[in-house]
Order: sequence, then C-alpha cells, then structure tokens
Amino acid sequence: MKFWPSAEKLKILFVTTEESPFAKVGGLGEVMFSLPRALRRLGHDARVMIPRYGTIPRNHGLRVIQRGLEVPTSPDNQGPRLACNVLAHEGSGTGPDPAPTYLLENQEYYELRSNAYGYIDDRIRFALLSRGALEFLNLYREWTPDVITSTDCMTGFLPDFLRRDYSKYTRLENIASVFSIHNRASQGPLQHHRFVPETERDDGHSPIPDFFGERMNSINSMRRGILHADIVNTVSPTYAQEIMTEEFGEGLDSLLRERRGRLYGILNGIDYETNDPGRDPLLAKNFSSQTLDDRIENKTALQKRFGLPENKNSFVLGIVSRLQKQKGFDLLRPIIDSLLKSTSGQLIVLGEGEPEIMQFFHELAGKFPQQVGVHLQFDDELSRLIYAGTDVLLIPSLFEPAGLVQMEAMRFGAIPVANNVGGLADTVEDFIPEKDRGTGFLFKEPSSTALLIATIRAFVNWRHQEPWQKMQRRAMEKDFSWERSAVEYVALFEKAIKLHQTDLKKTDTP
Ligand code: GLC
Repeated sequence: MKFWPSAEKLKILFVTTEESPFAKVGGLGEVMFSLPRALRRLGHDARVMIPRYGTIPRNHGLRVIQRGLEVPTSPDNQGPRLACNVLAHEGSGTGPDPAPTYLLENQEYYELRSNAYGYIDDRIRFALLSRGALEFLNLYREWTPDVITSTDCMTGFLPDFLRRDYSKYTRLENIASVFSIHNRASQGPLQHHRFVPETERDDGHSPIPDFFGERMNSINSMRRGILHADIVNTVSPTYAQEIMTEEFGEGLDSLLRERRGRLYGILNGIDYETNDPGRDPLLAKNFSSQTLDDRIENKTALQKRFGLPENKNSFVLGIVSRLQKQKGFDLLRPIIDSLLKSTSGQLIVLGEGEPEIMQFFHELAGKFPQQVGVHLQFDDELSRLIYAGTDVLLIPSLFEPAGLVQMEAMRFGAIPVANNVGGLADTVEDFIPEKDRGTGFLFKEPSSTALLIATIRAFVNWRHQEPWQKMQRRAMEKDFSWERSAVEYVALFEKAIKLHQTDLKKTDTP
C-alpha cells in the first residue's frame, strides 16, 4: 500500500471501550487518547465514543446532546429497547485534553459499573455500545463520520451492524468501517471460540441474535469484526503476519488468511509530549541523548524511592507492565533468583493485574529486600522515573501486538530485553557491538533459558559503558512519534472509504 498525505479532511469516529483519561485499563486507552489527537494535528476531524462508566463523573465538562435514545436489542427490532443518553465532551485534543468525545449513557450497563470490563454480561454491554453508536449517528444531524473504527472483540459487532442492518439508512450507508485488533487474545469478555462446542461455533453470517438470548453466548464478535469491516488492521506489521498463523491466531487465523488482502499492520506511536526526558518535571534530573551522564541521578532517586541501597554501580532491571500471563512472567519465574544472585543487580517492578502474579512479585521482594522493589499498582508518573533510572527493561511477552513500554523506555534510555515477537520485533533492534548497531537485546524463542541468556548478555555489555551509551543514544533518538503512524492511518481510512464505495456499487447493480 502506498501512503500519501491526504488532501481531504476526513471525519473519523473511534467507537471503543477505553480512552485515557476517562477510562484506561491498558495500551488501548492510551492509543485511543493519542491517535485521534495526532489525526487532528494532521487536520482531520477525529472523535471518540465510549461508554460513560460509573467512574466518569457527569459534571466534568460534559453536555447532554441526546436524551432518550432507544437502542433495539433484537434482530427484528421487536424485543425490548434500552434507553440511553449521549453526552459530549468538547475536547480540543491539545495539551492534556482528549479529542472530542461522545459518551453513551445507560444506567444499568455502564453507570452502575465502576470497571470497564469483567462482568458476566459484558457481551450485552458492548453490543449495546456498538448498536447505540449507530442509532445515535442515525439521529444526530450535526456530524456524520466518513469512517468508523471499532476495536477488538468489544466493538466487533459494529462493522456487522453497520454493513447489514444500518446501511439501509441513507445517513449511514456511506460510512466505511475499519476493525482494529489491539489484542487477539481479547476475545476475552465475549465468548472465546475455544469454549464453544464446535457445532455451535459462530460462522459470522447469521444475524446478530437477541442480546438477551442463549445464542448470544456463542457468537464471536471478533470474527464478526474481521468478516464485515471494509478493512482490518492491527497495531504492528509483524503482529499482522503472526495472527495469520495457527500459533498466534487464536482460532481465527484461517479467516484472517482469507481476508489477508484487507489486513494491514500499522505500528503504534507514543506521545512525545508526555514522554520527554529533557522536560519531565518528575525526574530527579532531566537529560537528553547528549547529556547521558546526567541520567545517573535518576537511578539513585529511583533506588531511594523503592527503599533499595543507593548505588550508582548496581545493574538495575525494571518491569513496567500489566501483570498478566501474556506478558511472559512464567519465563522469568524459574530464573529470577539466579539472575539476581549472579549479577548482584536490582529489580524494580511496577504494575498490577492477576493476583497470582502480584503475589509472586510481592514474595520476591520479601525474599530479596536489598535487591527487589515493587509497586503493585498502576502509576503513569512513576513509570517514567523507572524508564529514566533503570539500565534495562525486561519485556518477556509471549505475544505483543504492539507494546508501548519498550518505545517509552527507549525514549528515556532504558534498554529493552525483549521477546522477538509482534511490535517488539518491529521496534527493538538486536545489539551487535562489532557493528555499532542495535537498541536492545532480543531473544528468539519463548523459553526461560533464552530470556536468561539475553539478560546476561545485556549485563555483560552494560559493563562497557562507552558502547552502551552509544546504544542508549541510538535508542533515544529513534522516531516513534504518532505523526508517522497517523499518516499511515489516514491512507488506511481512505482505502477503506474507497473499498466501501466500490462494494456499495456492486450491491446496487441489479
Ligand atoms: C494491547 C496490546 C499491546 C498494544 C496495545 C495498544 O494492550 O497487548 O501490545 O500496545 O493494545 O495497541
């Protein structure tokens, strides 16, 4: 695909379940904050629609723009309708302000819930979001997008509703759809095909059933999104290839292979305003790739913050992560003790997630009180001190659609040790000292031994500060800005619009 700057201003709506600062569980919330903003900087009119969860107060500059929206819940429209309102946040999309955002309000399914995910009826909650967004756009006179992006299984029903039910409305028939896969494994809140008996598995073609009926339990919204969107994309080129294989495809690889002509991978970016070691007020000392010696002050500040001995000569490893199985902690478990003993290094862990993994790190800190410090709660600000103060960031993810942490870490001069998959493979280049190349240490099979070898390789090379600093400079100077990715997204949207028009004409011809 060719990427060219767009002459026309596009109207783009993201219908999604997270958008920082309103609601953020992981990288999705971050991307839904920064990508629309980057598109707006390019002159496009990008907006976002999310549910108004109980944690988002109504008074935060939100204005009711639609009352009493009645969202049907059955294919024949005869079933009950769910009453919703739509609120608007007129964001500027600059500074810390998100892009203009619509918030779908429903008392039972969003307002009474304080978390984005994890409820038994998540399937209904997000089918309501997908269908509610389209009902809203059909009534809303002020703005109609050219393209709607939906994300993961949560809003996977949207492309299906749009193509088959809502295209009969003149206001909506020209809207193209892009389905973005941020995480293939997140068939999560909806029914994962693995748990559905083979004979009952969804082929994606039947109408979306009654929201409250039994059949809804075996419908796979991820499949629906992939099948019915004009274009499917994921968040790195390598992951786009990987999900077409059985190993990473989670049962949808053959469908993805069928749709390969419409499948793209665009690497996520990071926000350069919030990730700036030269200006970050939370660092003990600001620095740039040219003043790397100043960076060391952040190491001691970090050690102090975590109650570890303040020693500039310690090898400091960091982990900043959702603490979930995907992130590969099972690889670390068998080797962490010997790693700490053989390097006499320190490990700093920031993150929250599965109780069992949190417990593991908590116990590790108890066992090595002089070497391990943990903060088992998300904290964006602390993450930047970790990037600025550690030598190496461990990222052993079993799979990684894009990964933002490695890009943020590199921006602050922390060197990633990472599994060579997905977005990690696309952003980290393996260190070759003889050639003065590379920005990190990659390991090529998901095993504890491979992780151990890569980490020891980092440790041995870290002792030679001159080539190490050169590597840090290369890492810090890489361009991971959103501008680059946003230009690619614009080309993708234009392609989706064209394909949509062509398909419309085809269905028009008698
Ligand atoms: C998911 C993926 C992660 C990606 C993020 C944003 O959280 O696991 O790799 O960076 O989405 O796209």
